[in-house]
Amino acid sequence: QKDFIDLEGLTDEEIYGILETASSMKDIFTRSVKKVPTLRGKTVVNLFFEPSTRTKSSFDLAAKRLSADVMSISKKASSVVKGETLLDTARTMEVMAADVVVVRHSHPGAAKYLGDNLQAAVLNAGDGPHAHPTQALLDIFTIWDKLGELKGKKILIIGDIAHSRVARSNIWGLLALGAEIRLCGPATLIPMGIEQAGVKVYQDVDEALKGVDAVNILRIQLERQERGLFPSLREYRYLYGINKERQKSLKPEALVMHPGPMNRGVEIESNVADSKQSVITEQVANGVAIRMALLYLLAGKEVKHEALA
Ligand code: CP
Repeated sequence: QKDFIDLEGLTDEEIYGILETASSMKDIFTRSVKKVPTLRGKTVVNLFFEPSTRTKSSFDLAAKRLSADVMSISKKASSVVKGETLLDTARTMEVMAADVVVVRHSHPGAAKYLGDNLQAAVLNAGDGPHAHPTQALLDIFTIWDKLGELKGKKILIIGDIAHSRVARSNIWGLLALGAEIRLCGPATLIPMGIEQAGVKVYQDVDEALKGVDAVNILRIQLERQERGLFPSLREYRYLYGINKERQKSLKPEALVMHPGPMNRGVEIESNVADSKQSVITEQVANGVAIRMALLYLLAGKEVKHEALA
């Protein structure tokens, strides 16, 4: 396929194919190799129209490790502020020979729109509340790396499910892999009827935590709340925040995860985020391998290199 927009519709075989490729990437770079020439001569453009620390920097690093040339454009520093459209901006990059356009945008469908209108491969780095497939893949990779095959694993996603592209992409990916998905959060932040997708919804966080293999803790997406937050952050922390006491409900081998950025003291306490059960920093590190894998699969597959054989 030319573009990578979301995980909906991918088979378990296709997802494991990406994870295996990422695993090879991780192996190469933990053997102190700094760079491979796989994407030499290719150009990757990062178009970030929403703030990002992890996703943008890891796409930058992933492309550089594969020897691609990288250009980064942010909304504030681009001619978008002078009225240029997203598509005209992307086409401007394309005529400068971009092979891959990585895009983050506040509008759901922005990545697909670019994919449909550009010859370059388009990679979705988050489109509004719709999808964040590379984040879901790095979350799934982290669980697979630590606990093995996902089939039958109990994964809890807790927090603002309604506004979360991370939750949506995780649900598509985890369902394809046969995991048991639990969702927990205030009723105001859980989409109505989501059980029909094949997930279990819990209101009681302590009940939801029992017996899970991993808990992925999401922040409240204040930037996407249109009608004010209910419950308040204080109430949320009390009712759903993961603190040391609630962590005790977890199996000792269960993973504590968070896609970041964290709001310490709201959805997660520092002594949980920094505990031995936490794999939050590993998620970030695995993000580079996942993004290298996707850049390779979209733009470099025809390139044969012994380090990637
Ligand atoms: N998880 C995530 O997408 O983080 P950034 O917004 O920092 O990229």
